[in-house]
Order: sequence, then structure tokens, then C-alpha cells
Amino acid sequence: MNAKPSRRQAAERVEELSAELRHHEYLYHVKDAPEISDAAYDELFHQLKALEEQFPELLSPDSPTQRVGGAPLPGLETVEHTAAMLSLDSSQDAALLRRFDARLRKALAGAEIRYVVEPKLDGASLELVYEEGRLIRGVTRGDGRTGEEVTVNVRTIPSVPLRLRNTDRPVPRLLALRGEVIMLASAFEALNERLIQAGKEPFANPRNAAAGALRQLDSRIVAQRPLATYAYDVLVVEGTQLKTQWEVLAAMRDWGLWVNAEPRRLTTVEEILAYHKNLEDRRDDLGYEIDGIVIKLDDIELRQRLGSTSHHPRWAYAYKFPPRREVTRILGILASVGRTGRVTPVAIMNPVEIGGVTVSRATLHNREEVARKDVRVGDKVRVERAGDVIPQVVERIDEPGRERAEPFRMPATCPSCDTPLVERGPFSICPNAFACPAQLVGRLFHFGSRHALDIEGLGEETATLFVQTGLVKQLPDLFDLTPDQLLPLEGFAAKSATNLVEGIDKAAHVEVARFLFGLGIPEVGTTVARDLARHFGTFAAIRAASEEQLRAIDGVGPRMSEEITTFFADEHNAQLLDRLLSKVHLIETEPAKNAEGNEAGDLPLAGTKVVFTGGLPHFTRQEAKAKIEALGARVVSSVSKKTTYVIVGEDPGSKLAKAQKLGVEVLDEAGFVALVEDGERKG
Ligand code: IVH
Repeated sequence: MNAKPSRRQAAERVEELSAELRHHEYLYHVKDAPEISDAAYDELFHQLKALEEQFPELLSPDSPTQRVGGAPLPGLETVEHTAAMLSLDSSQDAALLRRFDARLRKALAGAEIRYVVEPKLDGASLELVYEEGRLIRGVTRGDGRTGEEVTVNVRTIPSVPLRLRNTDRPVPRLLALRGEVIMLASAFEALNERLIQAGKEPFANPRNAAAGALRQLDSRIVAQRPLATYAYDVLVVEGTQLKTQWEVLAAMRDWGLWVNAEPRRLTTVEEILAYHKNLEDRRDDLGYEIDGIVIKLDDIELRQRLGSTSHHPRWAYAYKFPPRREVTRILGILASVGRTGRVTPVAIMNPVEIGGVTVSRATLHNREEVARKDVRVGDKVRVERAGDVIPQVVERIDEPGRERAEPFRMPATCPSCDTPLVERGPFSICPNAFACPAQLVGRLFHFGSRHALDIEGLGEETATLFVQTGLVKQLPDLFDLTPDQLLPLEGFAAKSATNLVEGIDKAAHVEVARFLFGLGIPEVGTTVARDLARHFGTFAAIRAASEEQLRAIDGVGPRMSEEITTFFADEHNAQLLDRLLSKVHLIETEPAKNAEGNEAGDLPLAGTKVVFTGGLPHFTRQEAKAKIEALGARVVSSVSKKTTYVIVGEDPGSKLAKAQKLGVEVLDEAGFVALVEDGERKG
């Protein structure tokens, strides 16, 4: 559409494009069976966006373009639920489940009893309200009667349709439903990895990450948090009748909502126990957190005969799994120095098994957290382990009458190098950077890590050995190591010593972005490092950049720019960097072609996402990555539906299976070379 269309033409086209985009959203997010490429979707999306910009009056709040979030809210408003959001009666006890079944059968004597059993999703409960099929409200559970209005945030969740689908089952006049907002395990891990790399605190579990995101005031942040919503209950429906839970699930599925695939229709307690066991066995493989099963009477009319208490319905029961939380005692609290100098209080506990893993240490985060939870040596505490995350002390368990130790105090000086600590917000920092042995271990290990110089064999243990034995007193010493020096160290033989030294030499040829990331500047994760390298081209230019110049880059805020300039302004760091730069050969990044730095859009592989798994016979990972990134592709670490190619080398990991499952295109080395050559011809 070149000439400005008439308003009527535009209105028609907006309708058409919206319908088409909604259809593709549904195929992608709900059916998991996209019919068009991401690029084709983006093209339609941009057409719609352009029209809406030309004709702002045609922009509706449920337009597919409105999922990116809007201006921050001053606060969240408390609103009343359409119908009370009750809780569930629950236990971990099979005998109590039997009692629930017996009571229910007795009360409904003579009726045929059938249950629907579902996973009990461990996220945040949410009410969604649709009027004439349009999403008008999203409300957190709150106290069950009132909750917080989070509609703008909910609109950013791709699995929540902004409009219901009209099929053989017509859209109801009013639909208030209930579902659970969760974060898929893969998304949770990726989010935490990002947070950790940026030097921030990771979330304790996916539930906290999801609940926190939902209540964010800035919906643009929510749009970046990968949330999903499963619908599982209808609170109110007008304009259609649903007779059973089974039909409720089917209807919600038809209307385009995400409905879990695990629910089953069962009749006996024995069947329910078997279902419970089966799900518990598969708990770690589901891809999302569940904490038990929910048993619901299927027949909705029968439900009404049973009614509810003020707390829970009498027709449903949650039969929970044993929690991945245990009680233990704190034996000591020590201060541990991380690679960025942050000193973290760590609880040393009486070892306790949680979900098959023995846990003896848990982070207490920072001085304020220790004070808030008021945990002291000798206290009894509840500890939680969720997914792969570091165990957390959830709370202290009060023991009246028991004498307690003195409150924990952060040491005044660094436990590793004795330098006086400085306080930054709730955190205590050792300012001795590269000269502090504890930080040096962390920095050395980080410098050699996968996203930095990728030095195989330089794990945490080896880094500790190098620092303890004095072989590495400063980071640049790493490049002076000889096999002879390594041989006497525990765990080294002639071959491994030579391999490691060779690996270090090879890693000395490194792209600017990796080198920059490897320095471990707080807040500078892999993405920022890459953006800086692209923008400035040379390391010298990044080093010389002012805060203002840094802030001109998308994604670089005031905190980050300050951390970066502070790092480079430090005299010790400067000396160390000069020495380091004399040992490495930086591979400079082609700077952005134009001033805006948005050249990636012109490159042949712009917009594609690539995952590598297994080693390629003829390229190092770094070389392969550099080649494909130079063509505009983004290299990411985990496979999702959005991945364009998975490039498979020798001994591929589970990523290959995942790619095949998701139908992502898989290339071997020859395919990769062809892709690069093709791109280079075009570019
Ligand atoms: S039905 C009144 N079904 O569990 C019954 N709840 O402990 C309505 N939950 O706050 C709830 N998965 O957020 C139902 N499949 C499921 C569920 C589920 C998780 C949550 C729900 C509720 C909590 C109660």
C-alpha cells in the first residue's frame, strides 16, 4: 500500500491483517504448528503496525500489535473478581484423598461419580475476563475476593488470546475463567542465566519469577519475561452451557486458550493414585513446575449440590507431592567472595536430602536478606530447591524458649584479601578486584568460560589450583603457563597439561565481544558485550567511550554505563588490561555500517536464530559462531520453536533431540558451510 489508503480501505485491511495474525498466533502458540515463517509473520505484523500508526483511531487494545507492553503504571489497582477465586482443600496424604472420595460419594449417594484429574500447576493464579470474546481484564488472585488488575501485563503473554476464536463452538457473551501463569523451565533457566551473567540475583523458582513479572508496573519488562498461561476452570459463563469439566477444558481449547495436555477422566481412587505416581515420576521432564494433582468432580450440576466452604469447593481436592523443601539447622554462616567482588553470606547447613539431592549450603543473598529473615547460627530453617537453582533458605522456624546466637554480621574486611569492604546498596563489595585471590579464582574461571574465551579444561577446580599454587597471580599470567608447570599439579598428566596450554594459546585469538564479556564487568552480559563490540568495532574504542556514548546504545542504561566506565577508569584494571592486551590477539568486529547501528537488518541471515550442539570437525565453536554472526544470525544457547537452525557436530547433546521434536531445521557441518557460503555470496 503506497498511496495513503482511504480510511475505509485501511479499516478493512486492519481487520484482515489482525485476523490473519491472530490465526498464526494461535497456530504457533497453541497448536505448536506454525504455517508461516517468523519473517512472514513479522512482515504482516509490520504492515498492521504501519497502518495503525497512519490511522491511530483504528488501533484497538486487542490488536496483535499490542503485546509489547506500554508505559509503566503508577501502581496496581485492586478490583473485585467476577466470582470468588477459592482455594483448594489439599494434603499429601493418600488416606485423606480416600476420605474426600468417600465423603463425596456419600453426599451424592446414587449418582455416577467421575473425576477429571489434572496437574496442579505451580505458578500464579489468574482470572481472565472476556466480553464478547475480547479480553477485557486480567486479575491476580489476591485474597480470593479482590485481586490486582494486571491486564496490560497479561496482554503481553503470547498464550493468552486477546480475542477468543469463533468456531463451531460460538464465543460466549461473557467468560470469566481461571488459569495459572507459569514460566516454562527452559525459559526460567535462560532468564536466570541472563540475570547471573549480568551480575544480578537469580529468581529462586519459576513461580516467583512468574508472580513477580505479573505484578510488574512496567509491562515492557513483562513482555520480555517468557510467561505462559494454562486455563483450567470457568468461573462464570454466559451465552453457552458447559456441563462437565471435560467439556470446560475442550471449550477453552476451542476458544484458543492454552489448556494442559495431561488431564484425564478417571473414576476410582486407585486410578487417581496411579495417575499421581505417574506424574510424580515425570515431574522433572514436564518442562514446567507442578506440585501435585487436582481431582475435580466432572459433573457441574453435581458440584452445585455439594457447594463450597468459604475457603474451598467441596467437589475438588489437591493431592500434593512431597515438597522439595526440607527443614534443617544452620551450622554456620560464612562470607563468600564472588568473581565480581560481591560478598555473599552463605549458610552452611546440616546436610539434608531434598528431592534426591543432598543440600548442605544455601545462599542468604546479602546483608539485608539475612536481617529480614533473621537467620542465625544454630537456627532451624526451611530450605527449598527448585530446578537447578542454588538452594534457598525460605524462612526461619521459630523455636520458643531456645537460646539463639548473636545476629550475623558481615565482616568489615574481605575474607580472602582483608581489604576493607565497601557497601553498595544491600551488597558488600571487595574493591580489590583482580588482586583479591577469591575474585581472581572466579574471574579466571569466568574468563575461560563458554561464552568468554571458551578454554576447555579451565574449570573452577583448575582455576582454584592455579591461584592457590601461585602460578596465576594476575589474570595475564594465564598466558605464560607452560606444560611443565602444570605437570606437578593434582589431576594433570603430560597430555592434559599440554592440551590445556595449547587450548589457552588458541583462545588468545578472541573476538572483542567475548574478551569484553570475559572481563566480568558487572552488568555486562553476553548480549551487551556483543552490542558494544558491534557498535564500537574495536576494544580501544569501547575502553575510551564516555558514559554518554555508551548510553546511546540500545539496552545500555545508566547503571551499566557507569559500571563500564568505572571499570576502565580504575588504575589497577588499566595496568592489568594493558598486560592482558599484550598477550591476546583481538579479532575486531565489523562496526555498524550506519550511525544507527542497525545494519543487521540488511545482512543475509538477519533475524535467524542458530544453536550449535556438538563440536564441528573443521571449525572451533568460536570460528563457527563468528562466521554466522557476521552474516547477521544470532547464536543462542537453547533450542526453541523460534530457532531457525540447529547446527550439529560430533557428539551432539539433547539439543538435537529437541530440535527434531520441535521440527527445527538441523544442519551438519556441510550444511553449515553451505549456509555460510550462500550468505557470503548474498552479503
Ligand atoms: S482449580 C476452586 N486446577 O492451586 C478450584 N487449581 O492451592 C479452582 N492450581 O490457587 C482451582 N493448578 O491457582 C485448579 N489444575 C488446577 C490447578 C489449580 C494449580 C492452583 C490454583 C489455586 C491453588 C490452590
